[in-house]
Amino acid sequence: MENLYQIKRICCVGAGYVGGPTMAVIADNCPEIEINVVDRNVERIKSWNSKDLSKLPVFEKGLSEIISRTRDKNLFFNTQIDFAIENADMIFISVNTPIKSIGLGAGQTSDLKWVESCARQISIKAKGHTIVVEKSTLPVRTAKTIKDILFASEDQLAVNNKKTFSVLSNPEFLAEGSAISDLEEPDRILIGGEDSKSIDTLAAIYCKWVPLEKIIKTNLWSSELSKLTSNAFLAQRISSINSISAICEASGADVYEVANAVGKDSRIGAKFLKPGPGFGGSCFKKDILNLVYLCNFFGLKEVANFWESIVNINQWQQDRIYKKIVESLFGNISGKKIAILGFAFKAGTNDTRESPAITISRNLLIEGAELAIHDPKVQSEQIASSLEYGYEIKESDSQDLITNERRWRFYKDIYKAAEDSHALIIITEWNEYRELDWEKISKKMYKPSWVFDTRGILDKSNIQKYGIKIWQLGDGSGND
Ligand code: UDX
Ligand code: ADP
Repeated sequence: MENLYQIKRICCVGAGYVGGPTMAVIADNCPEIEINVVDRNVERIKSWNSKDLSKLPVFEKGLSEIISRTRDKNLFFNTQIDFAIENADMIFISVNTPIKSIGLGAGQTSDLKWVESCARQISIKAKGHTIVVEKSTLPVRTAKTIKDILFASEDQLAVNNKKTFSVLSNPEFLAEGSAISDLEEPDRILIGGEDSKSIDTLAAIYCKWVPLEKIIKTNLWSSELSKLTSNAFLAQRISSINSISAICEASGADVYEVANAVGKDSRIGAKFLKPGPGFGGSCFKKDILNLVYLCNFFGLKEVANFWESIVNINQWQQDRIYKKIVESLFGNISGKKIAILGFAFKAGTNDTRESPAITISRNLLIEGAELAIHDPKVQSEQIASSLEYGYEIKESDSQDLITNERRWRFYKDIYKAAEDSHALIIITEWNEYRELDWEKISKKMYKPSWVFDTRGILDKSNIQKYGIKIWQLGDGSGND
């Protein structure tokens, strides 16, 4: 133990999808450590402190139970960023790192302005020795930026030697929807750094609940690159099976049979081979684009093209689904009501970042369709901001219906969404969509009625028996 730093207080800057759940699990397993999760977004902090646990800003199974055990005991959510930094022995940087929207590298690399401002705040406010941990997923060599900023202030104070830093990379591998179990029973914990005492100190925290053999220690750059590579490999599997879904439809094969047969090879494995409307979420596209940017930076054009094609196939999959819908509805959807079932990027989360529902809905709206959107977890305000239509949301007379002008409406009732619609599109694989009453739906829809199942969750024959036409992703049986 004498070779470790003593950690009494942790500060996590950024109370988002990553910071909140990660700190909750650390607090739950380390009651002796005081953890302050700080954010400059006052509303977000208010939600984390909300008495009604259903109002937490992140919806994750098991999270509210942990919050009720730890909040205001050793886990605190507040906006006193400077104070928390000053008093922390270890600081996690868990701020947002979206793809840059303007300037050099726009659309390709992460915008590091939040990371940089956070590093500057730390460099000014930290006291004594502070271990700074990169938690957000960042482009490789971001640790260098953080180090340059921190160590500049270290140099300034070198005379009285009061302020020192170690920078570690400790990427997060949690997936939304299973965040708590991913954090409680991770496949591995990755800690990259140069200073073994700091690495061991962070490892000792995880050792409270993670077996030692699951903790991997690497250099800083390997850790940063491993995170990008893990996400790129996962996304690559999805684009691979999605590309095969198109061949299945053309050739008479069934993509679920193919995925099952391929996944049985123990060298390949069955996970991340589910075909769908394309991957969404805040990480996959951003991380691949960061990898592509890095390859181009190092002059590795062929490698950059290889990884870029994964993102291109993902876009193509979303576009081809939308085209299939328009073609099936006689090439004209103007004024036709179409029900979108599911707006989250996957089931089990209320997150819509990069959701395929956004691209597909936008394209259908551009063609003139009127959309009836349902999602059991996503709020209509969130859909409005994702679709960027910017109209003011108005409550309608009906309790379960909120309207946004007349182009799209949010429905809480799936059957009302289906009423008078020409087509119903399953985009998110929510369980409630597996158990719909198709007889009831068939009576409400326009004829010919269409169902487009982009997740392969519906029982085709049960739908066809009510006279509804169905298209399922990767189902080539129509070619027989
Ligand atoms: C991902 C990584 O899994 C996680 O390790 C990393 O830390 C963050 O990014 P997340 O984005 O939460 O997590 O979700 P994930 O379950 O990986 O799904 C991403 C997207 O791929 C979703 O849109 C999902 O529907 C899609 N997907 C996933 C498929 O289409 N098929 C699959 O087989 C698996
Ligand atoms: P992630 O999915 O990576 O957790 P989020 O966008 O959900 O990303 O959360 C990041 C959070 O970081 C946001 O709530 C944002 O307000 C916060 N944030 C960004 N920069 C700073 C900063 N310099 N100080 C405090 N909070 C910050």
